[in-house]
Amino acid sequence: MSFVLIEKADRIAWVTLNRPEKLNALNNDVLKELEEAFAALEHDAEVGVVVVTGAGEKAFVAGADISELKSLDTAGARVQALRGQAVFQRIESMPKPVIAAVNGFALGGGCELALACHIRIASENARFGLPEVSLGIIPGYGGTQRLARLVGKGVALDLILSGEMTSAADALRMGLVSRVAPQADLKATAEKLAKTLLSRGPLALRSALAAVNEGLEMPQEQGLQYEAALFGLLAATQDMQEGMGAFLEKRPAAFKGL
Ligand code: COA
Repeated sequence: MSFVLIEKADRIAWVTLNRPEKLNALNNDVLKELEEAFAALEHDAEVGVVVVTGAGEKAFVAGADISELKSLDTAGARVQALRGQAVFQRIESMPKPVIAAVNGFALGGGCELALACHIRIASENARFGLPEVSLGIIPGYGGTQRLARLVGKGVALDLILSGEMTSAADALRMGLVSRVAPQADLKATAEKLAKTLLSRGPLALRSALAAVNEGLEMPQEQGLQYEAALFGLLAATQDMQEGMGAFLEKRPAAFKGL
């Protein structure tokens, strides 16, 4: 049985966490398959956008697998956190856009997985939360860092310290997700956005991801220099000539990623 399903269609790779009987909880086998999936998709020239979702009606991912976590000692727990962080870092560092289509519970490691994706779309029934403090631990797969960077320290501390779940509507209001769709329309909404991204210049998308992700880790002045350097590099691409030529000729651009 495969815990991570990959379906490819029209340059979109659909990555489905597939352990619905445990609400897609992330045990080590799931993490390993997830890492392998992204390692393959990063270099797959047939794929321009990745969408991550959960199998079943109920959950995106209900967290790291608590039955595995319970037996960890100090050294093991630290290694486990570093392991989860490394997998999610690989996702955040993908040079092509990764969309989280959050179809239900996104708790603990599931919320952290969504945070590592570049864009988050939630179905109306989705529920977000970092309930780790109710288990006597803290988020360990990047949640304390990415949530605070995404929504600000105050809202992040509210969610992390209370351990409370939040609705899709509240997640939208606080900037934890950028779009919400009715449950039945989630896949179509993610697909429509993926197709929009696929119509854009792939080298431009790659540079935009680098500018935002890496630039946020720099002082602003350095980030601005980095942005200008990437802007300069794009001026040497055929894609720029194509994009601007297409605009001036009033036709859709046909980018080649060159
Ligand atoms: N780790 C391991 N197993 C999990 C899990 C997790 N994070 N989340 C859910 N499961 C398992 C349950 O143990 C249950 O297994 P069982 O049928 O063998 O008993 C199955 O998934 C279904 O979950 P259940 O709790 O019965 O569903 P529910 O609808 O009553 O509640 C949740 C849903 C999401 C509220 C509840 O499962 C929950 O709180 N999960 C843990 C969330 C969490 O703390 N995540 C952070 C982990 S660090």
